[in-house]
Amino acid sequence: MNTKVRELLNDQINKEFYSAYLYLDFSNYFKAKGLDGFANWYMIQAQEERDHAMLFYQYLQNESEPVELLAIEKPDKKIECDMDILKAGLEHEKYVTSLINAIYAEAQKVNDFRTMQFLDWFIKEQGEEETNANDMITKMQLFGTDPRGLYLLNQELAARVYSAPSLVL
Ligand code: FEO
Repeated sequence: MNTKVRELLNDQINKEFYSAYLYLDFSNYFKAKGLDGFANWYMIQAQEERDHAMLFYQYLQNESEPVELLAIEKPDKKIECDMDILKAGLEHEKYVTSLINAIYAEAQKVNDFRTMQFLDWFIKEQGEEETNANDMITKMQLFGTDPRGLYLLNQELAARVYSAPSLVL
């Protein structure tokens, strides 16, 4: 495998674990506020990010490439209100999309078709992640300022259940 492509894939393991850590922090914030539904939603988001990390890990191993696990940074988002979290979530997903696109571009440069095919799933997934983050902001803007609306939104988010990724390596 091309060195640059391998390095970017290896870095992505770390970025995805950081994403899990970030969403766990968001879940922790909402749990402390008594908004269990929001806490549940971000807890499941954290589980999905851990799955993403493991997919990159597994892909490199399947390709017989070395994996180096790097230090995971402390979640660094400045949070003063609920909306800050939702907006930070969207901003973060856009950042992750740019990372996936950058790996794809490198793979394309060196005709690494297998890596491109592996990344196809993530390109679609990032579209869904950005849509979900956007929807959260819209719902919060519509209902979050009214206590009863916030209660119902919290109940809706409590219903989210974890499902394993559709990509199997
Ligand atoms: Fe793993 Fe939310 O992207």
